[in-house]
Amino acid sequence: MTCFIVEGGYALEGSVEVKGAKNSMLPIMAAAILNSDKREIELENIPDIGDMHMKKKILQSLGLQVSYASNVLHLDSRELCSHTISAALMKEMRSSIIIMGPMLARLGKVRVTYPGGCSIGPRPIDLHLKGLEALGARIWEEKGFIVASTPGLRGAEIHLDYPSVGATENLLMAAVLARGNTVVHNAAREPEIVDLQNFLNAMGAQVRGAGTETLRIKGVEALGSCRYRIIPDRIVAGTYLMAGAITGGRVTVRGIIPSHLDAVVAKMQEAGVVLEVGEDSLSVLNGRLKAVGTLRTLPYPGFPTDLQSPMMALLTRAGGRSNIVESVFEARFKHVEELKRMNARISVEGRTALVEGCAVLKGAVVSATDLRAGAALVLAGLAAEGTTIVKEIRHIDRGYEYLDLTMQKLGAHIIRSGEEQPAQAGQQNVAWNVADVPSHPA
Ligand code: UD1
Repeated sequence: MTCFIVEGGYALEGSVEVKGAKNSMLPIMAAAILNSDKREIELENIPDIGDMHMKKKILQSLGLQVSYASNVLHLDSRELCSHTISAALMKEMRSSIIIMGPMLARLGKVRVTYPGGCSIGPRPIDLHLKGLEALGARIWEEKGFIVASTPGLRGAEIHLDYPSVGATENLLMAAVLARGNTVVHNAAREPEIVDLQNFLNAMGAQVRGAGTETLRIKGVEALGSCRYRIIPDRIVAGTYLMAGAITGGRVTVRGIIPSHLDAVVAKMQEAGVVLEVGEDSLSVLNGRLKAVGTLRTLPYPGFPTDLQSPMMALLTRAGGRSNIVESVFEARFKHVEELKRMNARISVEGRTALVEGCAVLKGAVVSATDLRAGAALVLAGLAAEGTTIVKEIRHIDRGYEYLDLTMQKLGAHIIRSGEEQPAQAGQQNVAWNVADVPSHPA
């Protein structure tokens, strides 16, 4: 089995160019289904990550022609022929559920199973289904599949009980081709929703309001092709900033939109990290880590749940006690047991984790229980005494492009080990070997 071997104690130094956001790319790839043009869609700034390859496979199974090279995706939907996604493909990725909206809009029917993806607690899809029904879809279960069909979607006024990112995206992609007007109240406000709106409008849709809690969509007859550049990944950027901070190093993330990380910057500053904000960059300089009192994950513009686990790794090293409240997902603390194997002192009660700071982290064998948990364990490994082995790194490869190679360039001692090479093969690990680790840790 492939794993990362991390030798801790080396301060990271240097800069990282951040590529497109996974969570923008996935819905935008699905939105390519809506294109009824003869020309293909071209998406730029696409990271070479596991989730992109999986989504590509799902779209190909529906008949789309999809090719990827040099961070550019081409999607041709002229031969869209199937309306079923197999259970095997569905279970690989939660975001496959957002295929429902564009499929209903384009073909009037779709057949899927309950989605899989990261194991971070129950992830119901009731809001997706209720919203699609409001737009005129009939939905039922048949032999383990969820089947939806419609003679034609029609605009509606929808009130989401919770600003779900996925449900907002699904409804947006369904409503763009519905007859009449749709209003979505209590919509998610994430930058990825704004990106999806901009992409759909570039295809000819009439959507406004993204970034606020009310989306207004005027249905159009058809959508066409376009060329589009995905926004940078704020979660990847935050992860590298925290990697710099946990090692006491100086790391700059470039090519980003700093305002997307306002809540993260504020919390890191509260934790004593000194940050410099540039026009399209953020730098971690240094600082003395301290506890944050309470950190609560929230929908955007609050602190993102996807950076809760890397931030927890950081706070294990801070002076004092921090409370972390996970209010978005029910069971997103699986990394706690793994961090405890590394000598972190954390206790969990319900949705709150109490982190006792100043831990001397020790290398251990740990497992990435989900994508961001995996990133947190790598960060802890970078700051730990000795060697950490992170298993199940397929989760990390789903959302971080060449994490090991990028970290090596920053001076981290991390290698990929095992028979499988990264899905992003084609690049060589730099010549660092655990046995060659110099004896002067920073
Ligand atoms: C997306 C992101 C994920 C991020 C999350 C929250 C993608 C591909 N994934 O996931 O990285 O962590 O937003 O920022 O963009 N819920 C319901 N019913 C529903 C839908 C959601 O109860 O029908 C609940 C979920 O169980 C969860 C909460 O709403 O507790 C947030 O989920 P949601 O915003 O939908 O997250 P995702 O779109 O799955």
